[in-house]
Amino acid sequence: MADGTALAQTPAPAFAFTDEVEALTAPVWAKVRDKVTPIEWRFQAPLIAEINRLKREKDAVILAHNYMTPEIFHGVGDYVGDSLGLAREAQKADAKVIVQAGVHFMAETSKILCPDQTVLIPDLKAGCSLASSITGADVRLIKQRYPGLPVVTYVNTTAEVKAETDVCCTSANAVQVVEHVAREWGVDRVILIPDEFLARNVARQTSVGIVAWKGRCEVHERFTAADILEMKAAWPDAEVLAHPECPAEVLEVSDFAGSTAAMADYVAKRKPARVMLITECSMADNVACEAPETEFLRPCNLCPHMKRITLQNIYESLRDGRFEVSVDPAVAERARAAVQRMIDLPPPDRPARYDLVRARHHVDVELI
Ligand code: 13P
Ligand code: SF4
Repeated sequence: MADGTALAQTPAPAFAFTDEVEALTAPVWAKVRDKVTPIEWRFQAPLIAEINRLKREKDAVILAHNYMTPEIFHGVGDYVGDSLGLAREAQKADAKVIVQAGVHFMAETSKILCPDQTVLIPDLKAGCSLASSITGADVRLIKQRYPGLPVVTYVNTTAEVKAETDVCCTSANAVQVVEHVAREWGVDRVILIPDEFLARNVARQTSVGIVAWKGRCEVHERFTAADILEMKAAWPDAEVLAHPECPAEVLEVSDFAGSTAAMADYVAKRKPARVMLITECSMADNVACEAPETEFLRPCNLCPHMKRITLQNIYESLRDGRFEVSVDPAVAERARAAVQRMIDLPPPDRPARYDLVRARHHVDVELI
């Protein structure tokens, strides 16, 4: 290195905030300017321009979950949405490379649906407390204990768990899937795993009995009804939108419950003057970028797994083709059947919502 040869051979990335970069990224800046400082933007804008150039060069698309930070969500996401929407988009994607701006189970779902495409995740440690709460061996034991009952699995699970499953669901279609599978199997009880709170919230929406597992989302389990009532006392006109991964007591004091896409849809259509989104923090930021007339109160929690995905590691992922997600083909084939059964259900007319009158009536679930 003393003669400077190695340095000279390593081209410095062109990450300057040039006039060209500024012009290319101006539409994104117009959306995120209330969420990103001008100093941050000088670093983010060149990365956004470079990522968008690399996508064209590598024939890649980025699937970005609603919990990505605004510069990712609005700057580089080709398809953005909730878990159900991203799974549907993965299946339609005809690009060579899919970069999952989300957590590992989402990237696995994309790989399951697109076995011939390269699926990349920018950080392999982007996990999920729900996905790590249960294993394929656990599901095999559950099936032995409840023979004849169908297993519905939340998509927030590993491919090995999906492979042991009859049909997958997301928060956007869990009630629909449970009722469909109960009818199809001619049973009055269904196993719905691994999210205990989603299972308890679904149980209140249907007459189908629910057998649940004790998994929790570490982000949504922290919300309490007391927190919400305190905020409501201070801002009585604020509309409270909660995610069904929250404890049932939270939905009991909310005005609306639905998947992340359903919450975004609610704000876009109803344009409330003031809302609280009881979910991950970036969600409100992303929705706020397109809802200037709405004031967002912020009793939110961060997902440390989602926050592992950054513009920098998305750029490196595209540049270096890392980290490739693989799923054992035999496991993928069985998991695909469960995901496909979910995708093949007729899409709801609008993002599914939970009936909050029903949500206030306690219904027991059997906890394994
Ligand atoms: P949805 O986007 O499907 O509502 O899921 C939320 C979530 O926690 C994903 O990890
Ligand atoms: Fe998992 Fe919860 Fe994070 Fe979603 S928000 S990835 S469910 S830990």
